[in-house]
Amino acid sequence: MKFSRRKLLMALVASAFVAACGKSAEPKPADNAAAPAAPAATETRAYVVGTDAAYAPFEFENEKKEVQGFDIDVLTAIAEKAGIQVKFVNTPWEGIFATLDQGDRDIVISAVTITDERKQSMDFTEPYFEARQLIAIGKGVTDIKTFNDLKGKKVGVQTGTTGDEVIQKLLGKTSEDIKRFESTPLAMKELESGGVQAVVADNGVVINYLQNNASAGLSLIEDNQSFTPEFYGIAVKKGNAELLGKLNEGLKAIKADGTYDKIYAKWFGEKKAG
Ligand code: ARG
Repeated sequence: MKFSRRKLLMALVASAFVAACGKSAEPKPADNAAAPAAPAATETRAYVVGTDAAYAPFEFENEKKEVQGFDIDVLTAIAEKAGIQVKFVNTPWEGIFATLDQGDRDIVISAVTITDERKQSMDFTEPYFEARQLIAIGKGVTDIKTFNDLKGKKVGVQTGTTGDEVIQKLLGKTSEDIKRFESTPLAMKELESGGVQAVVADNGVVINYLQNNASAGLSLIEDNQSFTPEFYGIAVKKGNAELLGKLNEGLKAIKADGTYDKIYAKWFGEKKAG
């Protein structure tokens, strides 16, 4: 009796042990269960990516404070093709380029227009998106029909953007009529409340804002005579040819295999022309 109970106990212990082993994924000889299952080949450190996530639909934070958007999907897909890891960090627009030199960020993707001036201090990938400036005007504003009509008006822009640059050309760098904001949504809010009569910013963001704030009564003015096409690029520290090469390679691959078009359709609905 005693004996058989002991045997039974041993059998139970043994079967519990087997069951416990069965729960772990594979019967492994090693007992260091904490060791991660390593996808060895591409395992490197994650590149830190700066993005000013107040720029829907390109980059914005969801309710869970996760960064998402078109740019996020594009770079995530590029990284996958290039075999690199990326980690997105919400980063204020002002000073975002300096983070590359400081080494705080390895990559900036933030709907950044490639300009000759910026090319002096950082390197850009091939273009991944075409944009243009667009004018949003406030409710009841009737005397603005073209870019030139912004003379004598109070105009909101996000500081240091290409919108800021174009309006400086029209009104003068130091014009008091240029109201600069930390983010484009803040400029749009000011437009809603009547503090400025117009906002000049990238078309995709302005259109998105109007769609989501239809009750504000804002309207849009296109002026393709005054505004030239702009191209977004992904920026890295000047001289970081290795990383730039990987990003360009990944970008080429997602354009070639239809991934880019899928991402484009997800965020903008229609197929990109050209
Ligand atoms: N394309 C414009 C520029 O490069 C505006 C970009 C602003 N991006 C942002 N995420 N706030 O100047």
